[in-house]
Amino acid sequence: MTRQLTRRRALVLGGTGAVALVAGAAGWVAAATSGPAGDAVPGEVLVPGASGEELARPPERVSRDGRLAIELVAAAGARVAGRDTRALGFDGSSPGPTLRVRPGDELAVRLVNHLDQPTNLHTHGLRVSPEGNADNPFLRIDPGASLDYRIPVPPDHPPGTHWYHPHHHGTVADQLFGGLAGAVLVDGGPDLPVDDDRVLLVTDITLAADGTVAPAAPVERMRGREGDLVLVNGQYRPVVPAAPGRAQRWRLVNACTSRVLALRLEGHTPAQIAQDGAFLPAPVPRERLVLAPGNRADVVVQPDRPGRFTLFADPYDRGAAMGGRAGAPPAATGPVALATMAVDGAAAVVSPLPSRLPAEPAPGPATATRSTAFRMGPAGMVRGGPADGGDDALPMSFTVDGRSYDPDRDDQIVAAGTVEEWTVSNTGPLAHPFHLHVWPFTVVAASDGGPTTGVPQDVVLVPAGGWVRLRIPFTAHTGRTVYHCHILDHEDAGMMATVVVR
Ligand code: C2O
Ligand code: CU
Ligand code: CU
Repeated sequence: MTRQLTRRRALVLGGTGAVALVAGAAGWVAAATSGPAGDAVPGEVLVPGASGEELARPPERVSRDGRLAIELVAAAGARVAGRDTRALGFDGSSPGPTLRVRPGDELAVRLVNHLDQPTNLHTHGLRVSPEGNADNPFLRIDPGASLDYRIPVPPDHPPGTHWYHPHHHGTVADQLFGGLAGAVLVDGGPDLPVDDDRVLLVTDITLAADGTVAPAAPVERMRGREGDLVLVNGQYRPVVPAAPGRAQRWRLVNACTSRVLALRLEGHTPAQIAQDGAFLPAPVPRERLVLAPGNRADVVVQPDRPGRFTLFADPYDRGAAMGGRAGAPPAATGPVALATMAVDGAAAVVSPLPSRLPAEPAPGPATATRSTAFRMGPAGMVRGGPADGGDDALPMSFTVDGRSYDPDRDDQIVAAGTVEEWTVSNTGPLAHPFHLHVWPFTVVAASDGGPTTGVPQDVVLVPAGGWVRLRIPFTAHTGRTVYHCHILDHEDAGMMATVVVR
């Protein structure tokens, strides 16, 4: 299907061009849109009307007596943006249930695959074993099959906000874009003066008029696809009720396939308390919070007066490639509204946050160094790795160190127990979010002078033509897993490598 046809038939939201409303039905309206300049033809599309729905809490599954044993069925047919669609869900829900465990628990998941392609499960951010039936990205569950995961959460696992999503190489972007993601929380941590604790899991998706998920054209996969609908907990522009003086903890998860979220809450400066599930040493006020795909941030929002305040994602330019810019919509379209905080009641004084948070101590000095590079190039230049043949092949290669992903090749071999310093560079014209499973890192320097928080994180944006330097303690687990670009179209195209710690 051509880009034009996809665009024309898509259910489009504000943010993709001038929209003229024509008619209304079931909360959705037919509209004529001009589309982004040079990227689409005018056509009839459907847009969801403003729902005004209250932000939903994804169903929760909470561990008991040291165990969380659940079944998750991955299948098409989830309700998103207030409409029954062919989007993908876990147990019919996108996002899937929020899994809540405590340090020392066992997470036991039977994942049942009712999709029409292979899948598996990755617990992004959990510091758990990558071996056996734990957080093992090399496992494969065929359509109709199921697999019993057994994931022991170490007794000293820090409390924090993480998430889960499929990780079967080649189908990851389609399945996440389709809606397969959910939060996984490790409970515990300091008592905070908050009235509410919410997951805000952000996804993006493009739906065709018949409710199916729009496929991504090769050029979109090369830039990293971004959906026309940006959803919070599967809802279009939901409302978060709030009261003056009553603080809320928001666990923001960027579960978009490629979109970088540059978040801003109108009239407020949320205090960030954690990044990627790890506490900061102290709350940090954030006018703007940039989350690359995969990143999480826990923030405390403290409204002090009544009113309606929009949570925006501002345009974020990921660079230019294939004759267009990635991630930066035309200037005319501006920011995307994600949700509205509706504050009701008399103005009130907010109670202060603790001035100290339980941040982990910084890792010791590195005893080894290593470099690795994300590269884009003409497809013919790839060496190694399985041939990416077929109609679906992209005219451009996405590699790590010039090699396409090969699950059978050991790319980095690390001595268990060591602290390493990695320089991750990016020779191409697009920013790539670097992500390593199992072993979080601290960013010690970056070519763009970007912030170094001093606390562990698991995704960092590597600027186009730039680099980041990371300190990685390979102390907690041994085993074999992967690191990759978290623009999952790039990962599926080969921008992934293996690492063995032994
Ligand atoms: Cu969230 Cu390997 O990924
Ligand atoms: Cu991960
Ligand atoms: Cu990338």
